[in-house]
Amino acid sequence: MSPFLAAIFLFSLDVANAINFTTVYEWDKFDFIWPSGADTSIGQIKDEYKPGNVYLDYMAIFGERLFISHDMGFPGIPASLVWLPTSGTSTAPPKLAPFPSWEFHKKDMCESIQKAKGMEMDADGRLWVPDDGNGRCRPKLWIFDLVNNDTTERVHQFPDTVISGSRYLRDIVLDKSPDDSLAYIADSYSEHLIVYSRKMDKSWSVKTPGRKWESLALSPNRGARKLYLGRYGSREMYSVSVSELKNGGGSAAAVNFIGKWTEYPYRMLIDCANVLYAAFRYENYVSKWNISEPFLEQRFYEVGELGALWPFTFALDTNGTFWMTQRNEAKGWSKSRHKLLKAAVGARSYLFDTSTDLKLRG
Ligand SMILES: *[C@@H]1O[C@H](CO)[C@@H](O)[C@H](O)[C@H]1NC(C)=O
Ligand SMILES: *[C@@H]1O[C@H](CO)[C@@H](O)[C@H](O)[C@H]1NC(C)=O
Ligand SMILES: *[C@@H]1O[C@H](CO)[C@@H](O)[C@H](O)[C@H]1NC(C)=O
Ligand SMILES: *[C@@H]1O[C@H](CO)[C@@H](O)[C@H](O)[C@H]1NC(C)=O
Repeated sequence: MSPFLAAIFLFSLDVANAINFTTVYEWDKFDFIWPSGADTSIGQIKDEYKPGNVYLDYMAIFGERLFISHDMGFPGIPASLVWLPTSGTSTAPPKLAPFPSWEFHKKDMCESIQKAKGMEMDADGRLWVPDDGNGRCRPKLWIFDLVNNDTTERVHQFPDTVISGSRYLRDIVLDKSPDDSLAYIADSYSEHLIVYSRKMDKSWSVKTPGRKWESLALSPNRGARKLYLGRYGSREMYSVSVSELKNGGGSAAAVNFIGKWTEYPYRMLIDCANVLYAAFRYENYVSKWNISEPFLEQRFYEVGELGALWPFTFALDTNGTFWMTQRNEAKGWSKSRHKLLKAAVGARSYLFDTSTDLKLRG
């Protein structure tokens, strides 16, 4: 076979193995479901809204609802936590609805959500959302019970001893064991990880001297569970055994270098079949790595030029569907377009056992 034919052959093999995404929705710009009636307490949010500044940040799925947080680094964003339906009857893409309601998104009211940074859906229908707060409002962890009418189950305010002064919370993963659920949260401002115990309603920090973290992914719960850590401002990935994180007391955790990605990973996720997915700053692809094997970066998805700082965000649902948003900024920031894509990967998130694995379709 000539090298040319061999190349075509390899390429077609690649296409046959490629995951096929379908487009669920496409938006030229996002609109909100605005408060109705004479609710003046929300203020002039509609007038201040700047659609061009919507930057989808983190994502989670529950039933037929998709939850998204917005980056609040840009002005004119009315709510940092919203939801939309995963399917619709109309051809028009859905509007964004505040979660749980507009009442929870009052600016500078510290009992409201100021800046959702990261989110995770647990197997019992609870949505966990770290909130970075702002200059006046303390950082918090919100837990909403979606099975029980979206009620607020817990609001944990991180004490000064855990997070003091400046911080930049990013990303959360959940470690469920028979007797507790722990949350691990990254703070890319400080050289530590934050741990929260639901049972004790208590948080603590674990030092990681010399290193700060941006993205987190947890392996499925089979024996030696590991937390994978994307280093802040770097292509490097590390891991730490969760047993290093379970005790408070300000001890330092031993992190192990795993490998270097092709770019700086800002988002990571592991499914229950041990596949780690990663998205990178300014790159038009998503990579994967089977964590049961030595570190090897492989393409999972790739498109043409997108030109966006954070082009993707993604989450898995309980049916083994991988949901992903894509931002296309190739024609400029103000002309950015968004898509919601989905593909069957046949595995749920790391929070589910392999015994509940779904058969790969297709
Ligand atoms: C993806 O679509 C291509 C073209 O329709 C098809 O040949 C391939 O088998 C599909 N791959 C999977 C994993 O379904
Ligand atoms: C997952 O499947 C169940 C049962 O078929 C369905 O009710 C649910 O809406 C599906 N979830 C999503 C996100 O499509
Ligand atoms: C759920 O919340 C809605 C809106 O607040 C309320 O009208 C309804 O009564 C609640 N349902 C239950 C079962 O609590
Ligand atoms: C990951 O690697 C292990 C060990 O080689 C293998 O048994 C497993 O099938 C792989 N998983 C996937 C999803 O490819």
